[in-house]
Amino acid sequence: MPSYDLAIIGTGPGGYVCAIRAAQLGMNVVVVEKRAAHGGTCLNVGCIPSKALLHTSEMFHEAAHGFGAFGIKVKPELDLAAMLAHKDATVKANTDGVEYLFKKNKIKAFHGTGRIAAPGKVEVATEDGKTEIVEAKAVVIATGSESTPLPGVEIDEKRVVTSTGALELPSVPERLVVVGAGVIGLEMGSVWQRLGSNVTVVEFLDRILPGMDNEVAKQSQRIFQKQGFDFRLGSKVTGVSEEGGALKVAVAPASGEGDGETIDADIVLVAIGRRPYTEGLGLAEIGVALDDRGRVKTDAHYRTNVDGIYAIGDAIAGPMLAHKAEDEGSALAEILAGQAGHVNYEVIPNVVYTMPEIASVGRGEEELKAADVAYNVGKFPFTANGRARAINQTDGFVKVLADKASDRVLGVHMVGAGASEMIQEAAVLMEFGGAAEDLARTCHAHPTMSEAVREAAMAAWFKPIHM
Ligand code: FAD
Ligand code: NAI
Repeated sequence: MPSYDLAIIGTGPGGYVCAIRAAQLGMNVVVVEKRAAHGGTCLNVGCIPSKALLHTSEMFHEAAHGFGAFGIKVKPELDLAAMLAHKDATVKANTDGVEYLFKKNKIKAFHGTGRIAAPGKVEVATEDGKTEIVEAKAVVIATGSESTPLPGVEIDEKRVVTSTGALELPSVPERLVVVGAGVIGLEMGSVWQRLGSNVTVVEFLDRILPGMDNEVAKQSQRIFQKQGFDFRLGSKVTGVSEEGGALKVAVAPASGEGDGETIDADIVLVAIGRRPYTEGLGLAEIGVALDDRGRVKTDAHYRTNVDGIYAIGDAIAGPMLAHKAEDEGSALAEILAGQAGHVNYEVIPNVVYTMPEIASVGRGEEELKAADVAYNVGKFPFTANGRARAINQTDGFVKVLADKASDRVLGVHMVGAGASEMIQEAAVLMEFGGAAEDLARTCHAHPTMSEAVREAAMAAWFKPIHM
């Protein structure tokens, strides 16, 4: 008999949540993690440290540029080391929290690199060169993802960095070139731009934030440009070299036609996406199938093609988001316990934590058009919201998309301060199959930014009051 019910490789949001839920449901669980601290990309070098820096850099920027309009005169001075220390302390508090939860739930944790030697058998190689075999009835691959390399550009995490290096630059670069106008590029670009960097973003496509509703992406781009971002859309970076101490970034039109240019930079951030990380797991040897993008293939119950081996999170298909990984972890634990674990992929919120924030849930206009779904659109700008005026945060708008025949809400998209919190009411509404009228008739506290969400729902269903 194996000693454990469940062995989980990787303790990111997918793995650690799966472990805790499984233990709560009575399973004997072991986890294997090669990082020194649990919590995966998200807690160590992703969601948490980036949000710490986004918050502190925003406060610095507000103090320098926003307070004056409120009658507060200050001249902030940046102590970058202290700002980074706050970020590190935040990370530690969170990763310590996971360790505490493992102990509380009697989950055995190994630090080492896991390899699936055979179904039910995980070989753990520890740093001191020893190996240990862990046996379990079921094995979960929760090994996450890594940043996608840019061919021809070598990452040293000092001057040419991924998000990991961008979270710990020792000084504010005068010139930052970001490759990729996706989530990481805009979030980390915002951090350093607020602290004083001149930021140029080179993006292959002719738009920013691919996948987001077009109108939302366009308006966001205008706002970022107003903040000082310089965009080179429809462009690609073909190489980075060093000359006289500066980095020379070679940029060419994505189409291959027309003249290129060279942009000088002190730091280059490569943020062109992430790819699943399954290296060294021994998947080929035991025959676990991957798809054409290197993701572990699973069915709706997270089973791979090999009996007893499951996979969740960034390592499988779907959005690479911490909450998606967490929900898959919970659902899998429930399925393994004989319950009906399930993730509703139609209602996974997506947030870009810039200022203003950008948030969406459900389908965008382009997706609805492509699927030939008839819909009503309701929009409401924050310029017409009393609270937004009071706090000088009038940039952005809310858009509600509802089915033309049934009024059921199909998507909600917004740009605005606090959008990361406001999107949740749309998610709950959609989870319950709610209509725009339901949202429009729900009393909202006044004065709040969320009144704009209600007004957009009113506009989709009938008419808004304040516009
Ligand atoms: P991971 O968190 O990547 O964890 C996998 C773990 O497995 C790692 O700790 C790794 O060390 C370990 N591992 C891998 N192979 C082995 C092995 N063989 N043996 C032992 N251990 C192994 N998502 C959001 O939803 N919101 C955000 O705000 C957000 N911000 C982000 C910011 C940045 C800069 C980055 C890079 C990502 C961000 N993400 C965000 C994405 C989020 O971090 C991931 O979607 C999430 O961490 C995926 O969880 P996971 O458990 O699948 O994998
Ligand atoms: P991304 O997929 O969001 O954006 C990458 C961008 O790079 C795209 O716009 C793409 O068109 C562009 N690109 C690709 N190749 C290029 C090239 N050669 N030259 C120029 N541009 C190129 O990926 P990103 O920003 O690296 O983030 C990875 C993932 O991490 C995200 O997709 C998301 O899943 C997760 N993440 C989530 C966050 C959040 O939820 N707030 C924050 C940060 C990361």
